[in-house]
Amino acid sequence: MSAPRPRVLLIVAGGVAAYKALELVRLLDKAGVATRAILTKAGAEFVTPLSLGALTHDTVYSDLFSLTDEAAMGHIELSRSADLVVVAPATADIMAKAAAGLATDLATTALLATDKPVLMAPAMNVRMWEHPATRRNRAQLEADGVGFIGPDSGPMACGEFGDGRMAEPEAIRDAILARLKPGSAAPAPVGLMAGRRAIVTAGPTLEPIDPVRFISNRSSGQQGYAIAAALAAEGADVTLVSGPVALRPPAGVRTLHVETARDMLAACLEALPADVFVSVAAVADWRPAETAPQKLKLKGADAAPTVSLVENPDILATLAQPGPLRPGLVVGFAAETQSVEMHAAAKRARKGCDWIVANDVSGDVMGGAHNQVSLVTAEGVERWPRLPKDEVATRLAQRIAEAVNQSATVADA
Ligand code: CTP
Repeated sequence: MSAPRPRVLLIVAGGVAAYKALELVRLLDKAGVATRAILTKAGAEFVTPLSLGALTHDTVYSDLFSLTDEAAMGHIELSRSADLVVVAPATADIMAKAAAGLATDLATTALLATDKPVLMAPAMNVRMWEHPATRRNRAQLEADGVGFIGPDSGPMACGEFGDGRMAEPEAIRDAILARLKPGSAAPAPVGLMAGRRAIVTAGPTLEPIDPVRFISNRSSGQQGYAIAAALAAEGADVTLVSGPVALRPPAGVRTLHVETARDMLAACLEALPADVFVSVAAVADWRPAETAPQKLKLKGADAAPTVSLVENPDILATLAQPGPLRPGLVVGFAAETQSVEMHAAAKRARKGCDWIVANDVSGDVMGGAHNQVSLVTAEGVERWPRLPKDEVATRLAQRIAEAVNQSATVADA
């Protein structure tokens, strides 16, 4: 008996890109994947249930309160009958509803009721995509474990240009196939980083002078938290080693809270082995040579007190050292205000890491929502556009997944 075909539940929401969903169904069919479709009311303004049904060879579901639909398949069963739920196009509206956990129609009810992995292919106007509300919703969905493919950049149906075009059907098909384990009788959906272990450091470190005073810096931890969430959304087993920040730990990530650089190093070494180490923390380069056990009395002293400093261990350089426990891919960050790429390349060599994400911090990066980075690898420098930090995280997680998938897992070793 031949193995059953993997099944995708495809939710087609309202947007000009809905026509590409028809091509996606055709490509999936060719790749041996069966598709069952939910068409939202707005989606039906762009493609007809008839064309979608003809390509899926199945009933197209659209109404939560339809007796005929419910008789054919109840909405809970519908949401669980597939190996993977795909939303293409995913509009700003459906992303907002899913992020909020609303169940206002069949599509959003299925998203709330499903126990299967969800992949979204966003499509919307560039301003809607860049709106803080959509950013928030995407970050929430990622933290909830939803995977994303695209959007792409380019000219849009609305006449504008920018990020927001739905990924091409071929790219969505490939992302779907990567999530469906090939050849297994009961195909288990997997993320691109499933079975991989990652350690991420984030935030500042805090180096005490005495019980009430310390040396630290302005790092918010946002970028590191977003990278940990993006790797987890790709299925990685992530340990986030975080300095003191005001952020909620990402869902599905093991978060260890530390204060000093030495504690951060110890927690990272403890978390080994790993396939990838991403060093995003703004580790204090120096710490007070001694921590006074009692609060220093400064008033009435004859001279200003002197705090002598000693160098902290370099966590990135330590984990990048060759040896059996070195993660296969070691990624550092470099905060620079000038000659960004030149300094980053030098830092990459000095620290012994594989990649450096060079951060241009000459603007409002520290504590801000955006980041301007260049990826410095052995092959050269890739300059990325100025992007929201969660978008930098998703791109980096995708690049890491590609690189790591070319090597064996630490479990295989
Ligand atoms: N890093 C680390 N441990 C340290 C210092 C830095 O792991 N004690 C890591 C950071 O997490 C980051 C990279 O090293 O990945 C940054 O290197 P660093 O030399 O500190 O760069 P900058 O802070 O940019 O400092 P500078 O340019 O002054 O050397």
